[in-house]
Amino acid sequence: MSSAKIGLIGLGTMGSALALNIAEKGFPVAVWNRTTARTRAFHAEAGELAARILPTESLAELVAALEKPRAIILMVPAGAAVDQQIAALAPLLDPEDLVIDAGNADFHDTNRRASGLPMRFLGMGVSGGEEGARHGPSIMGGGDKADWDRVAPILTAIAARAPDGSPCAAWLGAAGAGHFVKAVHNGIEYADMQMIAEIYGILRDGFEMTADEIAEVFRQWNEGPLKSYLVEITGAVAAAKDPRTGAPMLDVILDSAGQKGTGRWTVVEGARLGAPIPVVEAAVMARNVSARLEERAAGEARFGPAPQPFSGDVSVLEQALVAGKILCYAQGFAMISAASADFGWSLPSAEIARIWRAGCIIRSAMLDDMAAALDRDPERNLILDAVFARRLEAEAPALRRVVASATLHGLAVPALGGGLFWFDLMRTRRGTANLIQAQRDHFGAHGFQRLDGGPETHGPWAKPAHEI
Ligand SMILES: NC(=O)c1ccc[n+]([C@@H]2O[C@H](COP(=O)([O-])OP(=O)(O)OC[C@H]3O[C@@H](n4cnc5c(N)ncnc54)[C@H](OP(=O)(O)O)[C@@H]3O)[C@@H](O)[C@H]2O)c1
Repeated sequence: MSSAKIGLIGLGTMGSALALNIAEKGFPVAVWNRTTARTRAFHAEAGELAARILPTESLAELVAALEKPRAIILMVPAGAAVDQQIAALAPLLDPEDLVIDAGNADFHDTNRRASGLPMRFLGMGVSGGEEGARHGPSIMGGGDKADWDRVAPILTAIAARAPDGSPCAAWLGAAGAGHFVKAVHNGIEYADMQMIAEIYGILRDGFEMTADEIAEVFRQWNEGPLKSYLVEITGAVAAAKDPRTGAPMLDVILDSAGQKGTGRWTVVEGARLGAPIPVVEAAVMARNVSARLEERAAGEARFGPAPQPFSGDVSVLEQALVAGKILCYAQGFAMISAASADFGWSLPSAEIARIWRAGCIIRSAMLDDMAAALDRDPERNLILDAVFARRLEAEAPALRRVVASATLHGLAVPALGGGLFWFDLMRTRRGTANLIQAQRDHFGAHGFQRLDGGPETHGPWAKPAHEI
């Protein structure tokens, strides 16, 4: 191979899968990894794709192997490793060469890097895990459009294909726009997983179903409106058996969830933007609580186990999950809209829904309808779209029943509840913030607006003691 079309740094789980994908789509790719043994092993195991992969053992060798202007994908851990690689590449690259950070960067870092680097720079969110990276991820790009266009033929070739055949890769806006949208994607992923886990909890502890029975419920749901990757794999993991003991896998896995922080970033950013995402907040909270094993055990010892069995129709749970999912996406897209205004991006909501339809972890049948709704009006909250409003009218009562019954039975449903409580706030014309305003004015003289349109004023409360 004389020269490669693109370079890739970082042959871990994602980088090696992405490099094989690039080679498979016909693009010669030069690769480099910090630990050379991994580069050699990767090339040795690449089979017939090895002919289109050029292993290199120094950054200078990698750079020399690339067609000009060069393009290099970084697939290393977010944060310091990205800055280190950019610094190491800087003296070797020309100003028009392009570095693409394809890891899960904090989009604030991408915003910072987008200005002030001596080379061109794109921030690119990649979703779909190892399988997606290998056979077609969803790709969310940010940076200068001209830089995206340069590498778009490769990125669209390696991306997943939606059911209508269109590639799930798009340029979404300047600087950190791609990594921001990836963060919202990850927040929705946390939320979707948590809502499914809550329903699993009701089936296991409320309905006292076995793992096999639960697997069958999710298998059936995956043929209806809930059809999605996460519902599909929930059925699969519930059906799996432990090779060591023969017990259901779910019954041998410790109930303490890990996280790498992307959900937390999304929650913090949602709060900063004033775009609440309570389903995601609940999901992050639940993962944090899940790690407090000893305290939870002490809580159960002190207060006793939750009152259990639950009765009712399992189909109500399906409807509740449909409603929860609509509310969760409505929150996510509202956050995307808020970021567009705050950062001066014009994030294309409908296009984002379209590129999430395949390749990524949150791919789901419902995203087709969401893309159509966002095409109709990208700014209107999804719950007010005619199609989704009708669906919520039909399904929200089930969500209310499930949240109420689960609460009475002591089964924790913070994400489903978070969705429902947000929905109830969003459908209430006369809320209770008049009291909040009165309290704020009483202790801080913050003033309030009057319902009758009179000038902003203060209440007739006594002055605080320290002001008398
Ligand atoms: N795993 C997923 O499902 C997934 C999905 C989407 C996005 N991501 C993101 O993709 C990125 C890579 O994740 P991964 O799962 O592929 O990680 P991984 O399997 O742990 O691989 C990390 C790679 O980065 C290299 N590396 C680590 N520190 C480095 C440094 N300081 N300088 C240079 N190279 C360094 C490692 O090289 P050595 O071989 O020398 O250690 C290795 O090749 C992360 O940002 C991650 O958040 C992951």
